[in-house]
Amino acid sequence: MSPIRTSDVLVVGGGIIGLVTAWRAAQRGLATTVVDPAPGGGAAQVAAGMLAAVTELHYGEQTLLALNLESARRYPDFAAELTEATGRDLGYRRCGTLAVALDADDRAHLRELHALQQRSGLASEWLSGRECRRLEPMLAPGVRGGLKVDGDHQIDPRRLVAALLAACERAGVVFHRGWAERLTVLRERAAGVVTADGTDLAAGRVVLAAGSLSGRLAGVPEQVLPPVRPVKGQVLRLTVPKRYAPFLSRTVRAVVRGGHLYLVPRENGELVVGATSEELGWDTTVTAGGVYELLRDAHELVPGITELPLTETRAGLRPGSPDNAPLLGPTELDGLLLATGHYRNGVLLTPVTGDVMAHVLTTGELPDEARPFTPRRFAAATLTEQPA
Ligand code: GLY
Repeated sequence: MSPIRTSDVLVVGGGIIGLVTAWRAAQRGLATTVVDPAPGGGAAQVAAGMLAAVTELHYGEQTLLALNLESARRYPDFAAELTEATGRDLGYRRCGTLAVALDADDRAHLRELHALQQRSGLASEWLSGRECRRLEPMLAPGVRGGLKVDGDHQIDPRRLVAALLAACERAGVVFHRGWAERLTVLRERAAGVVTADGTDLAAGRVVLAAGSLSGRLAGVPEQVLPPVRPVKGQVLRLTVPKRYAPFLSRTVRAVVRGGHLYLVPRENGELVVGATSEELGWDTTVTAGGVYELLRDAHELVPGITELPLTETRAGLRPGSPDNAPLLGPTELDGLLLATGHYRNGVLLTPVTGDVMAHVLTTGELPDEARPFTPRRFAAATLTEQPA
């Protein structure tokens, strides 16, 4: 017997990407269900919340840069709308970012980044080591120079995800608290999911937004299964006692021994230090080695950090994609859409992802800014890679 249609849109995954998709879909009048055993969990509970389109620019990622900048541009209105809808503060802080160099190699790396930013028309300013320390007196005396990027801000991802959850509830989104086990495909069309407790959830469209788990839903035909993998990040949380405040007044980051290190100071005294980047499958163990490396590198950058209480250690999984960019929109299977693969930029890309997914769910078309991120780019690549 066919299952009864329960919603227009069924979102698999209740992290920030699934929730923003559900919120925006419900605002457009679509009956929306989210299936997740613990909505509001996932990578947002670990992420530092840097909105770092400019300081996280990488060679070969100019297309992604355009989407990142577009999402950063939408952040003020998005945050204001979400706060208005829920009465919750999101910890959105327009504090800017300082990327610094600790040695000659780091400085050469930062100079390259500065040149790339300038070629890309991005605003960033080169500072001497002394100028960096004038801005952030807790920096180590050895800091050799840095880049001041006033446009890279931060948000508190835990507050963001809690607000999205509240906004979804107010907008009438239905939550099914369980695991989506299998995609239902009827007459070559995605038609819902069956959950681990055996519930049939039927829907007109299914959006797979399950972060690093998005490639694991049974029943999804292999050629449309998203090529998403988990990339582990270990993150520390410390507390700045009032007598030390302000310890840092903006996000401070550096590349230390090839790894990205960042310190994100919140107004409430939390200081987030991240992050390792490890390809270890679905392992979320916090290791002594991971904590040691983060503290060692953070201490080189900001020696006073060892005075602060260490309040939390946590590991999360970034949903990595083959080109580090998200997969947004329809797949080759009718009725199945993706909103996944956001890798290092899930928090930054939340506003634009919500808008893009709402647009595609209501019109069937990807808006211009999202066309390069169609999941079909990987299907096409697979076909052209076939041996003759
Ligand atoms: N965007 C920061 C990280 O993924 O570690």
